[in-house]
Amino acid sequence: MTDLDRLVARFDVNDPAFIADPYPILNAIREATPIYWSEPNQHWVITRFEDVAGALRDRRLGRAYTHRYSHAELGREEPDPRWSLFHEHEEWSLLCLEPPDHTRLRRLVSKVFTPRAVAKLGGSIEGFSNALIDQCAEKGTFDLLTDYAQPYSVAVICSMLGVPTADSQAMLDWSHAIVKMYELEADEATKQAANQAAGEYIEYTKGIIAEKRKNPDGLLVSELVRVEDDGDTLTQAEIVSTTMVLLEAGHEATVNTLGNGFRALMHHYDQWHRLVSGEVEATAAVEELLRWDSPLQMFERWVLDDGVEIAGQPLDVGQEIAMLFGSAQRDPRRFDNADSFDVGRNDPSHVGFGGGIHFCVGAPLARLELAQSIRGLVERFPNLALAEEPRYHPTFVIRGLTGLQLAG
Ligand code: HEM
Repeated sequence: MTDLDRLVARFDVNDPAFIADPYPILNAIREATPIYWSEPNQHWVITRFEDVAGALRDRRLGRAYTHRYSHAELGREEPDPRWSLFHEHEEWSLLCLEPPDHTRLRRLVSKVFTPRAVAKLGGSIEGFSNALIDQCAEKGTFDLLTDYAQPYSVAVICSMLGVPTADSQAMLDWSHAIVKMYELEADEATKQAANQAAGEYIEYTKGIIAEKRKNPDGLLVSELVRVEDDGDTLTQAEIVSTTMVLLEAGHEATVNTLGNGFRALMHHYDQWHRLVSGEVEATAAVEELLRWDSPLQMFERWVLDDGVEIAGQPLDVGQEIAMLFGSAQRDPRRFDNADSFDVGRNDPSHVGFGGGIHFCVGAPLARLELAQSIRGLVERFPNLALAEEPRYHPTFVIRGLTGLQLAG
């Protein structure tokens, strides 16, 4: 066993110490090598910022390969028919498509998910935030995730899509179950639960679409339907996948950015003071929250063309790469004092929202939601404090806390 093998063996998603603080190990691996082969996961792992940012923009790499190759051609197994509902729910998700389908769908989604549509939400975002903060203040001690971030982000995305907020708990439950399918070591029971949740969610979403066809309201789902009705090309299956990816992608990462970020602020109280005193703007802090403890730690790509080389390592068509966002965001080659949490850093060029053709379509909305939350909570609770030490969910790809008890 080489030193690198020993080091890489410590990247163990089943080890509670690694989950509690993966950064010392991620840092050590990144400094030891820009790329290595993970035998258990059968993929190349990319550790440094420059290579991750480059891979995100490299059109010879794709989030999907089925537009170019069959599963058999790449020596991959056919999708497991037991999880067909899960596959159906993501079939037309932007995150599962590559050009030309991706280009077509993204153009249509961008036509309705415009900066203007996001800006129009500003007032209601502030309203949702203030109402929830009032409830937290009444409680005195509250859980930032369940009492604030989850109902807040669901209310925002529902109001943008035009989906009843009354259904938000069901949507939260489906979304939580479905995204567990993306973890590195999901077991059978988890996959079964994800598949069942996807089925229920598809039926629910079809109902919403039928309702919007009858009663258009000018909001996002209704607009997606209208684009289809105009004779343009959005099918029912495409609208279902798009609605669901917006709900899922728009929810989990925003909640976990707030949880991980407020944990960091409470552990670095000097940085909290910089916000309370007004020295640093909430909009600047958002960027550091996204960089320092990434809510999304890893994204994958397939090698689609010959001749791809990353950090001097030639890669074969059909091989998979895993980009370690959390490691890249702490790369000292890219960020000064990369390990220090500095809310005034104000560097929006991190990879927190990805890059290239799959760059997060919801980034302007996420930035608005996060800044509003920081502003509101700082104003209302200048002496905010941890009521108890939080713990992380035992998952790696989606990094988030099980709860965050704060005293206002
Ligand atoms: C803090 C919150 C968020 C973070 C950190 C985040 C992060 C990301 C990242 C890293 C990607 C690119 C994935 C890749 O390249 O493989 C992405 C894509 C995407 N995000 Fe976000 N996101 C957030 C919020 C949102 C919101 C609020 C929405 C929508 C309401 C959203 C919708 C999407 C969609 C639809 C894509 C796929 C775009 C495409 O493939 O063309 N995200 N997001």
